[in-house]
Amino acid sequence: MKNWIRMGAPDVGHLEAKEVYEQVLSGWVSQGKRTQEFEKKISDFINVNYSIAMSNGTVTLHSTLVSLGIGPGDYVVVPSLTYISSVNVIYLCGAIPIYCDVDQDTLLLDLEELESILKKYSPKAVMSVDLKGLPCDYDLINQICDVYRAVHIADSAESLGGIYKGSKVGSQAAMHSFSLFANKTITTGEGGLVTTNSEDYASKLKIIRNQGQGDIRYEHISMGFNYRFTDVKASIGITQVSRLDDILSKRQKVVKNIKDLMGEKVKFQKVPKYVDLHPYYNLTCLFESKNTRDSIMNILEKNNIETRVSFPPCHLQPYHKNLESISLNNLDKTVRSFEIMLDIPCHQNINENEIDKMTSIILANV
Ligand SMILES: Cc1ncc(COP(=O)(O)O)c(C=O)c1O
Repeated sequence: MKNWIRMGAPDVGHLEAKEVYEQVLSGWVSQGKRTQEFEKKISDFINVNYSIAMSNGTVTLHSTLVSLGIGPGDYVVVPSLTYISSVNVIYLCGAIPIYCDVDQDTLLLDLEELESILKKYSPKAVMSVDLKGLPCDYDLINQICDVYRAVHIADSAESLGGIYKGSKVGSQAAMHSFSLFANKTITTGEGGLVTTNSEDYASKLKIIRNQGQGDIRYEHISMGFNYRFTDVKASIGITQVSRLDDILSKRQKVVKNIKDLMGEKVKFQKVPKYVDLHPYYNLTCLFESKNTRDSIMNILEKNNIETRVSFPPCHLQPYHKNLESISLNNLDKTVRSFEIMLDIPCHQNINENEIDKMTSIILANV
């Protein structure tokens, strides 16, 4: 895919390579002090009490549900417009997803519908999803959850670095789960984090990460798994966090440039007023119709510009459509949004010529 404008590529280089080299030579390659150092850097960056690093952003989500004791017969609310792992971990616990529709402008949970679901079904947890990195309205979701005694878990896999009402994403819900996969704003190759202000959740999560082992070696006091991180990954992560503010500010400029050039002719995922920084994991256009979306996608591809259509609604997936689930309606807004969405490249390494090329093709065909 040489000469293509790509959706993104891991922004790693000599700095990360040097850290990895030294870490390997230290002989400590599995989870140890370097992981703790990485977790501290993340906690300081977000301004949250605890960060727990794990193997990836799916097992972090799973661990949050396990820490709440979610099991067979329990309900967990989740949007269908999300990556499949949000839903898979609910089924993995034996619980039943209640799909909540989304707002067609923000692509985030429809909060009126969320309240109706909580009233009717008393779910144990609500998993909000910061789709494309856009933070949900955590305060409002917390308020609804408090009334109906549900725990709010934020799937913030895509929103590291986002700012909600003046605070970095990661301390608003009971627990936030982040992904550090290679396509995320910062990466450790594979990796995940849970952040929380609760000492109780943090200690449960650390035990779950390590096979349920408590303070005594080989004494297992809860259900657990090997969800540990590694110090080699931490050595990449430490460098990446130190570069995160720079990466985010470059992305803001790229997106501003793209949006300025598109003007009113193209509609984007709406950024609500409570968001002080959308980290733009992806920049999502919302076209008039599926036909327009598909034809623009094809023209961009012919011009060597990569795009993504994500994510197909989970309730329509070939496997999941046959599993037990609940929804108040047929999730029309989810399905409609998926038909008209298109993610276009917006990463920090796109140059002005590439932005001009991409925006003029879209404007000529919209
Ligand atoms: C919304 C969402 N949730 C969960 C995940 C899972 O993260 P990981 O790929 O690190 O397991 C992702 C990753 O792409 C995601 O986008």
